[in-house]
Amino acid sequence: MTSTTRRKFLTLAGAALAGAGVAGCSMIGGDDTSRASGPAKIDRPLDKTRTLVTYFSMPETDAPDNMTEDEENSTHVVDGKVLGNTQYVAQIIEKRTEGDVFRIETAEALPLDHGTLEDLALQQQESNERPKLKALIPNLQEYDTVFIGYPIWWYDLPMPVYTFLEQHDFSGKNIILFSTHGGNRLGETVEAITEKLPDSTVISNAFTISRDDMDNAESEVSDWLDSLG
Ligand SMILES: Cc1cc2nc3c(=O)[nH]c(=O)nc-3n(C[C@H](O)[C@H](O)[C@H](O)COP(=O)(O)O)c2cc1C
Repeated sequence: MTSTTRRKFLTLAGAALAGAGVAGCSMIGGDDTSRASGPAKIDRPLDKTRTLVTYFSMPETDAPDNMTEDEENSTHVVDGKVLGNTQYVAQIIEKRTEGDVFRIETAEALPLDHGTLEDLALQQQESNERPKLKALIPNLQEYDTVFIGYPIWWYDLPMPVYTFLEQHDFSGKNIILFSTHGGNRLGETVEAITEKLPDSTVISNAFTISRDDMDNAESEVSDWLDSLG
């Protein structure tokens, strides 16, 4: 695929129909976690003093009123405050686990315009770029469980998340994944991260929720967290 023409990502049904037409993309499997090799559960209760919730999220506006459809798709409004979908899930996990939080941000601000953002994200993927991050986790050694959250971008992880994975040493830690998506669920991101972090225990039971289902996030996240223990 090239980024010279704007295209929409295909959702599960569309992608299945299109088949090999979407060359170069890591396409979705029926069961998101069946090929990931990590354990489905954590081997000890979460210790809130040693738990870190990290996430990448890209709300396309910070104004709660008169949103365009694209802006609505990428946000969830809580008490008048605009959050990205993944950011909202991260907040729910943070509240429930009482862990610390770290937001993954790029050094250079990303465009808010949806089409421009899509084109840039695709271009970064096609060139296997590692966008520079604003900051790294300063005290990673203090944590033994790290949640990593991300939206699905072009069937895969956003490239800044690859930078994040490569620029930290997660060895020996439990890694728990969560994502939000527009139809492609987890894609093959659990497998990709499991492969990237061979010295970590990547829990295969990753969480994913559609951007259209954010009103149910609180109870879905809670059920998922219960299922991890
Ligand atoms: C650049 C870009 C590419 C996207 N590609 C996909 C995709 O391939 N599959 C999918 O299901 N959703 C895709 N989406 C939709 C996002 O995964 C979804 O809106 C997500 O909830 C956004 O989370 P955020 O608000 O935390 O950034 C894409 C969104 C953007 C901005």
